[in-house]
Amino acid sequence: MKKYLITGCAGFIGSNFVHYMLKKYPEILLVNLDKLTYAGNLENLKDVEGDPRHVFVQGDICDKELVESLFAKYDFDYVINFAAESHVDRSIKNPEIFVQSNVMGTVNLLQRAKEAWYDADAKTWKEGKKYLQVSTDEVYGALGAEGFFMETTPLCPHSPYSSSKASADMFVMAFHDTYGMPINITRCSNNYGPYQFPEKLIPLMINNVKHHKQLPVYGDGMQIRDWLYVEDHCKAIDMVCNGGKVGEVYNVGGHNERPNIFIVKTIIEQLHDRLKDDGISEDLIKHVADRLGHDRRYGIDPTKIKNDLGWYPETPFEKGIVLTIDWYLDHEEWMEHITSGNYQKYYEEMYKNK
Ligand SMILES: NC(=O)c1ccc[n+]([C@@H]2O[C@H](COP(=O)([O-])OP(=O)(O)OC[C@H]3O[C@@H](n4cnc5c(N)ncnc54)[C@H](O)[C@@H]3O)[C@@H](O)[C@H]2O)c1
Repeated sequence: MKKYLITGCAGFIGSNFVHYMLKKYPEILLVNLDKLTYAGNLENLKDVEGDPRHVFVQGDICDKELVESLFAKYDFDYVINFAAESHVDRSIKNPEIFVQSNVMGTVNLLQRAKEAWYDADAKTWKEGKKYLQVSTDEVYGALGAEGFFMETTPLCPHSPYSSSKASADMFVMAFHDTYGMPINITRCSNNYGPYQFPEKLIPLMINNVKHHKQLPVYGDGMQIRDWLYVEDHCKAIDMVCNGGKVGEVYNVGGHNERPNIFIVKTIIEQLHDRLKDDGISEDLIKHVADRLGHDRRYGIDPTKIKNDLGWYPETPFEKGIVLTIDWYLDHEEWMEHITSGNYQKYYEEMYKNK
């Protein structure tokens, strides 16, 4: 039975990964270390409560003693690091916490994994171990109208968030280059799907449209992102962890490039038709001052993961967005629990005066 230390899996992608892995592998152990920041939500894992294959531990990836004790107790085969501060707007307001969790936290995990897996006298690594860092296409910077990010594209991050992720990636690569640590890095595009915290574009817009609230759109809304259905991403991580060549980076993209304003208009149209509500219209859109240093376009070339591992994005955007809207409509209570908490205060702070 494979034993995984997975971090940050009370968040959006991580909780989807837990569901994906428990469905796929009857015999597995997932030890989920999550600090439960504002973005960590144990309600995301409600339906796996009591499953002995998933153990939740509340704690910080920066905590040396805690991570050490988990390695001693479980003798992990894999570490998959999802844990991060992940919202660009928050990184613009408060960069330090991004350095702490995203950079220092990653280095702590690498260091603890090395101590557990490396025999310094024999200069050998235990068989079958691997550290996988979940990273982002944002480390590559921004694209013009043409071209795609390849794994060989130089890192050129612009925001404090992407700079912290790029820095973490470099430490992961440094552990491979310096000590021969078995690692992979995945860099994916914008994910969407169930359990996403409603500060991110798609759940934010679904929730606002439903309640006839204004839809804040940064600048002209023509920032292009490549949208990846979260389950496709989970599948890619599993494939890279179990079949990726050690030391390699894999880009994971959806071939679903869309401008933000298109996403917003699609959500309006879908909800208008589905809820048969004429109060839902494009009049709700409000263009607000653009985000500082907002990257114009991201686009991923996923050829390498396709050729090497046979992964491809199975869910076209047209299908994924319907599945996603269905999920949020069916999970009103989940959304209410979030929007009645801290999130409201944050929302006011971010958008009220724009
Ligand atoms: N969401 C996307 O579209 C996207 C795209 C590319 C890459 N990524 C990367 O994927 C990963 C997961 O993203 P997400 O959208 O699920 O994020 P999220 O913000 O929804 O969840 C992050 C989780 O990490 C936990 N966490 C934060 N700091 C921690 C710490 N110091 N110790 C332990 N836990 C901590 C939080 O409590 C939360 O549960 C991140 O590394 C992110 O950079 C996300």
